[in-house]
This record gives sequence, C-alpha cells and structure tokens, in this order.
Amino acid sequence: MSETLPAAAVPFPQDRTCPYHPPAAYQPLRENRPLTQVSLFDGRTVWMVTGHAEARALLADGRLSTDRTRDSFPIPTARFQGITRQRTALLGEDDPVHNTQRRMLIPSFSVKRANALRPRIQETVDGLIDAMVAKGPRAELVSAFALPVPSMVICALLGVPYEDHEFFQAQSRRLLRGPAPADVEDARTRLQDYLRQLILRKRAEPGEGLLDELIVTRLENGETDVEELVSLAAILLIAGHETTANMISLGTFTLLRHPERLAELRADPSLLPGAVEELMRFLSIADGMLRVATEEIEAGGVVIRPGDGVVFSTSVINRDEAVFQDPDALDWNRPANRHLAFGFGIHQCLGQNLARAEMEIALGTLFTRLPGLHLAADPETIPFKPGDTIQGMVELPVAW
Ligand code: HEM
Repeated sequence: MSETLPAAAVPFPQDRTCPYHPPAAYQPLRENRPLTQVSLFDGRTVWMVTGHAEARALLADGRLSTDRTRDSFPIPTARFQGITRQRTALLGEDDPVHNTQRRMLIPSFSVKRANALRPRIQETVDGLIDAMVAKGPRAELVSAFALPVPSMVICALLGVPYEDHEFFQAQSRRLLRGPAPADVEDARTRLQDYLRQLILRKRAEPGEGLLDELIVTRLENGETDVEELVSLAAILLIAGHETTANMISLGTFTLLRHPERLAELRADPSLLPGAVEELMRFLSIADGMLRVATEEIEAGGVVIRPGDGVVFSTSVINRDEAVFQDPDALDWNRPANRHLAFGFGIHQCLGQNLARAEMEIALGTLFTRLPGLHLAADPETIPFKPGDTIQGMVELPVAW
C-alpha cells in the first residue's frame, strides 16, 4: 500500500468525544465500510476493517499475522515503539507456537472454571462494597472497586500475591499508558523481573494457583521454559485486570447515564447476562486489534498486500448497521448479540468467561447493594481515558 497519506485517511486512534461512543471523527469510517484506510502517528497508512462480516473473515485468516517482531507490524502510538518489537506470548504469536501456548491455558479458562470461581468473585465484590459503605457515602469507584475486583481475581487465579498489587498495577499502567517509550520499556522489564523472581520462588516452594500448576505440569518436564512462563504470566496479569476494570468503570458510568435502561435491569435481574453482552458491544473498550499481512488477500473489494498493516476498530465494527439494528442505541433485547468486543478467531479473548462472570457479579451487586448510587461530579468533568486502543474511566466519583 502507498506510504503517502491519501487525502481521506482518518488518523487512528483518536480521543472519544463521549466515553461510550466511537470518536465523532470516526464517522467517515462508518460511512466507508467494509475496509478503508487510516493514518497512524508515524504517518503510515494502514487498512482499517470496519465491516462486521469482513472483520470475522479476516480475524480468522491465517494470512494475517500478530507477530509484533515483524518489521512492518503496525504501531498504534509512539510510546509502543520499543516494546512492539519484542516477543509477546499468545497475543503476539502465530500458530503453531500460539496453539501450543493456548492449549496449556485453555482448561483454566473454561466456562466451568469461571463458574467455579463465582463464589470467590462474589466474596471479593461483597468485601469491597462493605469497605466502601464503611467509609461512605462517597467513593472514587475506579480505585475502590473497578480495579481491585479483577486484580484480586486474576491474582488468586494465577497465584500472584495480591499484596504486591500496587507494584504491578503501576507497571501495568505505565506499560499501557507510558507516557514515553522509555516508561513502557522500563515497566515491561520490571514486571518481567518481578514475575521471573516469583516463578523461581514458586519452583522452590510450590503454592496454589495456575502458575504453580504450570510449573509442576509443564516446566519441570521441559514443555515450557521460565522465559515463556514469564511472558504468559505477564500477558494474563495485564489483560486480566486492565480491560475488565475499564468495563466495570465505564459500564457503571454508562448505566448511570441511561437511567431507563438501569431501571429495566433493576426490575428484572435476569436481563443481566444480556446486558453485559450489550455493554461489551456498546462500549467496545478494546478498540484496535492489530495485524500485518504476510500474503496477498482480497477482502471487501480491496487488495491487501504482504507487509500492509491491518487494524480492526471494534467500536466501529460493533455498530455495523448490517448486523445491529439501531446500533447507537443501548438495547438489552438484541437477539443473538454477535459483537466482536472479545475479538474473533484464534486470538479471541482467552479470559472472556471469567470477564463475563466478573462483570455480571460486580455490576449486579453494586447496583443492588447501593440503590441510590449516582455520579458525584458533573459528568462532563469526569476524566476518561484519552484516544487509545483501550478505553475506560481514569476516575469515577460516585455517592449513594
Ligand atoms: C471485559 C474484559 C476484556 C475485554 C474487553 C477483552 C478483550 C480482548 C480482545 C479484543 C482480545 C483479542 C485481541 C486480538 O485479537 O488482537 C483479547 C485477547 C486476550 N485476552 Fe481478553 N479481554 C477481557 C478480559 C480478559 C481477561 C479477564 C483475561 C485473562 C484472565 C484476558 C486474557 C486475554 C488473553 C490471554 C488474550 C490473548 C489470547 C490469544 O492470543 O490467544 N482478557 N481480549
């Protein structure tokens, strides 16, 4: 694809103008389905997939690679320049390596395992709400609730000591948000050093958790090595709390801004699982999946050439009128919600069953236990995350 910027190429990613809608400046992308071009911060133009059918086909196409060490892999923001060129387990591996790594983890992320964790998630959520009530009637919901819920759950699942949460949450935040490339690289190194030490300690003194299990069943027999385990643990730790935390905070904000929808949920709690799916579609917080073409591909009337970058905007795809009627409306009653907010194909979110359980329990319990929950600041002044590939609230002041 030409490296010169076509006049019509929209810059990607951009700030949302409303925290729960795609950026207003993405309108031309919605009007130019199913594939169009966008420009990245470094001036490069890449393909943007905006049609739902084409996104499903391309996300399942082995000619698109997620190997971030390839020279032509697209980099969405300046601060990822350093780390994008490093190996990343699962999300940055193509098959067959990806398949081997994913198969090691699949049993721990089944629906059955997620359901077995529900009592523990409920206990965590109840404990955090008790603490908020004891200090109330106001709280900053991101730090008091939205972040600790998934953080405590993923720590328990992996066997990472929650006492260290301030350290790894800070590194994870720097890794995803920078601000400079040096912060991102330093955060990644620190997180990896921490996990390497933890794995070595566990190897000497096994405890309970997925990492301990993997050490016993896969490391000791040579199926994996310490560096691969470090990389797997890092992606699970980061993916396991950042995204779900953003869904809980932004989901709460969105429900408080849609009182009629919230009233429907309160009147009929059986709507909750469907509501979580619709919030996933509507909010599309992981808004930018990245790939590079390894072979020529014809899709949606264009030819993608080897080396072309391909970006998938879930916020635009999940509002494709061909699949979702009245896509800008929040509607609990959509039949078979086929959103791609957890991705699609071999990299489809490994933690989706767990994430669903956490969101249902966190949102359901929050609005039941605190019936008077409301925003404690003017919604226009509440800071949400800036233009990026992951959306969420920075802070969420609430009262009840
Ligand atoms: C609501 C919360 C979540 C959202 C919106 C989300 C979204 C996504 C998306 C869109 C992908 C695909 C990325 C791509 O194809 O480029 C993905 C992959 C992944 N997610 Fe999630 N995720 C969430 C929660 C979680 C949780 C709780 C965990 C782990 C405990 C997790 C672990 C992963 C992993 C390991 C991958 C990579 C899978 C692979 O490459 O095979 N995610 N997630």
